[in-house]
Amino acid sequence: MRLVFVGPPGAGKGTQAKVICAKWGIPQISTGDMLRAAKSAGKLPADLVATMASGALVPDSVVIGLIDERTKRPDCAPGFLLDGFPRTVPQAQALGEMLEQRGQKLDAVLALEVPAELLIERAVLRRTDKRTGQIYHLKYSPPPPGADLEHRADDHEEVVRNRISTYEAMTAELLPYYQGLGILRRIAGVGSVDEVTARVIEALGNLK
Ligand code: AP5
Repeated sequence: MRLVFVGPPGAGKGTQAKVICAKWGIPQISTGDMLRAAKSAGKLPADLVATMASGALVPDSVVIGLIDERTKRPDCAPGFLLDGFPRTVPQAQALGEMLEQRGQKLDAVLALEVPAELLIERAVLRRTDKRTGQIYHLKYSPPPPGADLEHRADDHEEVVRNRISTYEAMTAELLPYYQGLGILRRIAGVGSVDEVTARVIEALGNLK
C-alpha cells in the first residue's frame, strides 16, 4: 500500500499517519520531520532553516531527493505513507516517475480537510515529545507528566497563517492533479482523532 496524506498545517496528517502506519506495518515518511531532523543535526543549510521558519516551502529538488533515497530502503517494500509530500505538481510528477521506474504506483492520496479557524489552534497548541516523536495538543490530547516537549519554531500564529496561505496556493493545482488521476479521496478532518481515523480507514477499506 502506497499512500499520500495531503492537508494544511495542523490538519492531523502526522497524527493520523502514525495510527495508520502502526495498523498496517508501513513506514511513515514525513518530509517535515526529515528536514527538522537535519536541522537538529546541524545539517540543514541556513537558507533552508530560514525558509522553514518563514512558513514557505523548501525547493522541490531538496524534498524530491530525500524521498527518492528514503523510499528505496528495504522497509518500504510493503509500502509507505508519505506525510506532507508531494506538495506541488512538480513534486507529484517526480514521485510518479520514480515509482514508475520501480514498477510501482500510488494507491491513494488522502486529502484531510479542516477549516482554517481550527488549524491555527491545532498548530499553535501542538507539542511534540522530543524523545518519542509523539504528537500532543495542550487542549485536545494533553501530554503526560514528564514528557520532554518541543514547540516547533514554525508553530507561532503568524507563521501558521503563512503556512496555510502557502498550502492553499500550492494545492490549488495539486489536488486537481490527483483528482485527474482518479486516486484522490477527500476526508473531513474535523471531530475527534478516533472519528477521523475511522473515516480514513473507511476511505481505504477496499484497498487493503
Ligand atoms: P510539515 O512538517 O509537513 O508541516 P505541515 O504540513 O505544515 O503539517 P503539520 O505537521 O503542521 O500538521 P499535521 O497535519 O501533521 O498535524 P498534526 O497531526 O501534527 O512541514 C513543515 C515545513 O517543512 C513546511 O512549512 C516547509 O517549509 C517544509 N516542507 C515539508 N515538506 C515539504 C515539501 N514536500 N515541499 C516543500 N517544503 C516542505 O496535528 C496538529 C495538532 O492538532 C496536534 O497538536 C494534534 O494533537 C492535534 N490534532 C490532530 N488531530 C486532531 C483532531 N482530530 N482533533 C483535535 N486535535 C487534533
